[in-house]
Parts: sequence; structure tokens; C-alpha cells
Amino acid sequence: MGRKEDHIRICLHKPVQSKRVRTLFENVHLINNSLPELDFNEIDTSTKFLGHDFSAPLMIGAMTGGAELAGTINRNLAEAAQETGLGMAVGSQRAGLYDKVLADTYAVTRKRAPNIFIGSNIGGAQISAGFTVTDGKKLVEMIEADAFYIHLNPAQEVVQPEGDERYRNVLSRIKEFVDGLDVPVVVKEVGFGISGEVSGKLENAGVSAVEVAGMGGTSYAAVEYYRAQSMHMRMKERMGELFWDWGIPTAVALRMASKHTKMPIVSSGGLRTGIDIAKSIAMGASLTAVAWPLLRPATMSSDAVKQRLDELVYGLKTAMFLTGCRNIKELRSLRYVITGELKDWEEQI
Ligand SMILES: Cc1cc2nc3c(=O)[nH]c(=O)nc-3n(C[C@H](O)[C@H](O)[C@H](O)COP(=O)(O)O)c2cc1C
Repeated sequence: MGRKEDHIRICLHKPVQSKRVRTLFENVHLINNSLPELDFNEIDTSTKFLGHDFSAPLMIGAMTGGAELAGTINRNLAEAAQETGLGMAVGSQRAGLYDKVLADTYAVTRKRAPNIFIGSNIGGAQISAGFTVTDGKKLVEMIEADAFYIHLNPAQEVVQPEGDERYRNVLSRIKEFVDGLDVPVVVKEVGFGISGEVSGKLENAGVSAVEVAGMGGTSYAAVEYYRAQSMHMRMKERMGELFWDWGIPTAVALRMASKHTKMPIVSSGGLRTGIDIAKSIAMGASLTAVAWPLLRPATMSSDAVKQRLDELVYGLKTAMFLTGCRNIKELRSLRYVITGELKDWEEQI
């Protein structure tokens, strides 16, 4: 069975969420407003990200492609994103570069979602190891992408049984993609969190936006732990266990990025409710992304995905009603309070 199928299967059937580390959104408090002075149905959640329209500041986080089941998953995700007017990113397209059948498991997204924002995806290790700007253009073409996502995942690669541990010169290569591609470059993590310092370096390299993908949700060390276990790779299994909760909690990564950069920030990693989305926007994010909670619904139907997305947006809208925010602009300037562990971080970042 291929690596991508392993990832899907493990994420569906094993506990892969962080155990002891939380996003720390629980330390962010929005204040109830008993005089919102607006009607619920006046609330407008629409927004723009990199010049594209979104019905709400939410997209489906990068997950998959490159395997038979992945084609079904991407089709259901794309149909739901199109119907709801939200965006999506596909998973790493490495597998689709030289294989037409596998390429179709990504291309299906644009076929089913002609009008929404869709992001291409490749890993930092691949661009360090020779993946070229010309290859990047092919990936963009494959799905008529609106942006090119590069995921940074050294923690995953080092735990992964057959991981690629080459991570030299990634920043300078990112700059080549920024200069050579016709679409904006967005850099993300995979759940270990991008720090403020790294966000600043990415901004200087000309990247258009950063997706923090912090810790507190899906742990890719956990995913690779199960793979290492089944492959009897003892040391990698031990590392998966050791680094299960490694990373920057999402709320911290978001604070770090907004201190160090002016570029648009996407909040992701462990966002599970509309309240998490509302808190992210109040803290300065332009957009949010949710991945793992949409995986199971995506194996079922586009309606199942849509239901989950509708619930997230309804929760966001309700939080906006209860804080008296008529639109996303007002939510972005909403006052909030931070306490506890997040406040401890705040003093040192
Ligand atoms: C099944 C699965 C596959 C994923 N594959 C990719 C990938 O190919 N490329 C990528 O950038 N991120 C990938 N991710 C990481 C997600 O985009 C996201 O950053 C991470 O899961 C944290 O968000 P969550 O807690 O909402 O799941 C994957 C996540 C899941 C659950």
C-alpha cells in the first residue's frame, strides 16, 4: 500500500490528534455582548484572500490526492467547497507529476469546483532535493491553481520511515518559486507550527501568505509513528512517540506571525469550531483552514462535507452575533482577552 493510502487509513482509524498539547485557543476569550444591536441575518461572513472571494474566512486544508480513495475524497471536498463558496488546497502533488492516472485524482478538484480558490501543494524536502520551478508550473496547470502551497515538514520527514531528511537551501529555493511562478506562493506547516522568525524570513523571501498549521490538532508524528510501528522500524517508532506533541500551539503561532509579519496569515492546526475561527480572525488571521475533521465526511459524500462546513460557518456567524460584529472587518478589530499559558508565551515571544 502507498504512503498516501497509509496516511488516509491511519488518520481515519487511529488516534492521531495531539495528546498533551492544545491549540491554546481556550486561553483566548471573546466577550459576550448582550447588546449586539444587529439582526443575525444581517451578518456578512464574506471575505477576500489573495484577491479571491470566499463566502466565509475558511478553507479546506491540504490533505490528499495520488491514490484511488484520494480521488473520491478530493471530489467530495471540491464539490462541497464549490457549493459553499469556500476554498481548498490539495495534498502534496508529487505523486501526480509523472503519472496521468494519479494526476487525475488532483485534477478532479478543478473539474468539480470551477469557481473557487484552489491551492497546489509540494513539500519543502522536495524543493530542496531538486523539484524545479518548471515542475511547479505543471502542478499549477494540473488543477488550474490560484496559489502554490509549499509545506514545511522537517518534523514529519525525520520521523517518517522513508522520510527525506534533506532540508538545506529551502528558503532560497522558495524564493525561486516566488520569482518563477505566475501564482502567489503560500507557505504552510503540517501541524508543528511556523514560528514568528520563520514567518519573517518567508515574508522577506516574497511569499504572499503564511499558514501557521500549529500544534493542538492532527499530529503527523503520530501518523508516522503508526507507519514505523507496522514497518518494524523501532527507532522511528520511538521518535514518533517522543515528538507526538512537538510543535508550537496554534494560538501562539498566530500571535508570533502577527507580531513578525504584515502579510496575510492563515490560522490552522486543531481548529474545530466556529468559535476557533472567530478567535483566529480577531487575533489577526485573514483566513482559517480545517483538515482532519473533513476527512471522514469526504469518504462518504459531498453532502457530508458540506454539513460539516455549514456547521463551522454557522458557529462563526453565531460568535459574530454574540460579539456584535456585522462583518469580518469588524471581527478583525474585535477586542479579546488572553489568559493562562498563552499569556506566559506572550511575554517571551
Ligand atoms: C490525511 C491528511 C493528509 C495530509 N496531507 C498533507 C499534504 O499532503 N500536504 C500538506 O501540506 N499538508 C497535509 N496535511 C496537513 C494538513 O494540511 C494540516 O496542516 C494539519 O492536518 C493540521 O490541521 P488539522 O488539525 O485541522 O488536521 C494532511 C493532513 C491530513 C489529516
